[in-house]
Amino acid sequence: MKVLVTGAAGYIGSHTCAELTLAGHEVYGIDNLVNGHVEAINRVKSLNNQTLNFSQVDIRNSVALDKVFKSFIPDVVIHFAGLKAVKESTIIPLEYYNVNVYGSISILEAMDRAGCSKIVFSSSGTVYGYPNYLPYDEMHPTRPINPYGRSKLLVEQIICDWVVTRPSFRATVLRYFNPVGAHPSGLLGEEPIGPPNNLMPYISQVAIGKRKILNVFGNDYNTIDGSGVRDYIHVMDLARAHVLAIEQQQKLDQFEVINLGTGQGTSVLELIKFFERESNTEIPIKFQPRRDGDLASLWANPKKAYDKLGWKTKYTVAEMCKHAWAWQLNNKNGYNT
Ligand code: NAD
Ligand code: WQD
Repeated sequence: MKVLVTGAAGYIGSHTCAELTLAGHEVYGIDNLVNGHVEAINRVKSLNNQTLNFSQVDIRNSVALDKVFKSFIPDVVIHFAGLKAVKESTIIPLEYYNVNVYGSISILEAMDRAGCSKIVFSSSGTVYGYPNYLPYDEMHPTRPINPYGRSKLLVEQIICDWVVTRPSFRATVLRYFNPVGAHPSGLLGEEPIGPPNNLMPYISQVAIGKRKILNVFGNDYNTIDGSGVRDYIHVMDLARAHVLAIEQQQKLDQFEVINLGTGQGTSVLELIKFFERESNTEIPIKFQPRRDGDLASLWANPKKAYDKLGWKTKYTVAEMCKHAWAWQLNNKNGYNT
């Protein structure tokens, strides 16, 4: 298939481009590079010895989008581009709504102009908010607690409205839980700009000596060891789910929402242990008060992903740590290494 990937130079986008080209799809990536890296695109090409078209385009630029849609004529769009830092979204909420919501409308409008009727959208488990029950299934009420989460939910609803009156159109919303890890080759990975907000890249940077100590936010939660519990999912499992989603989209409902997680929770302290074992390093930690807005535990019910896409995660938490470490070790300065 001909697949237009927005946010192709970012963390999940680049890994998905690698899986798409490996599966024989023709891919055109766009990204404005605010958080992405052209080197990631170059490495995807070198990995599979494949062609990967790429243009630096902002998804809010309709003229530039039309040019891409006209020259490539995609069968489907996988829409990753957006801003994703929860804390930042509370500080500059309008920028988040502008990029995530207006940017997504701009993509849908360009699709309409080009006659493209299929989209896969990157949403987040964060749309659920405080759990009524766990694991979250797709029927769980959605009550996001920050502007980032609200921007994702708004886009889901906009896409639903866009698709629902047109029987031949398809929209698949994938709600990811906590993506971590890296391409097993060690060539692609996550490169946060500035100090990482997320746990896994922070652990990696402590292990490599870039940061002295890992702050563990909370040791008094009602969990197995008092630290927060999350559903970490290997980025390659996520990438594979996107390939399945586009290949099977025609037989899915017009508008389908699917969780992508392992269905298993891992605590912060457990993740640190796994990482220490896989990297043969020691991670010094310091307990800190709970981080504002954090939930004690959350994990996904991934049954629908299996029923609808035949998708199950393959990678273990140990492999997530092993690959995150290989990426960090081979690329001390990220894509500039
Ligand atoms: P990322 O920041 O690595 O990738 C996003 C890409 O979008 C970046 O390369 C960035 O340069 C690009 N981008 C941002 N604004 C743009 C614009 N206006 N025009 C064009 N490109 C633009 O993030 P990621 O982790 O790869 O996340 C991809 C998607 O998945 C995002 O939509 C994110 O909200 C969603 N998601 C991520 C996580 C996570 O924890 N990583 C979890 C759930 C959902
Ligand atoms: C995981 C656990 C922290 C850093 C975020 C977004 C969510 C989704 C995925 C996009 C928590 C603890 C963390 C540190 C720590 N992204 N922690 N020390 O908050 O579950 O989810 O990323 O859609 O929307 O909110 O992930 O990796 O930040 O935290 O102790 O230095 O690690 O308190 O328990 P989170 P995270």
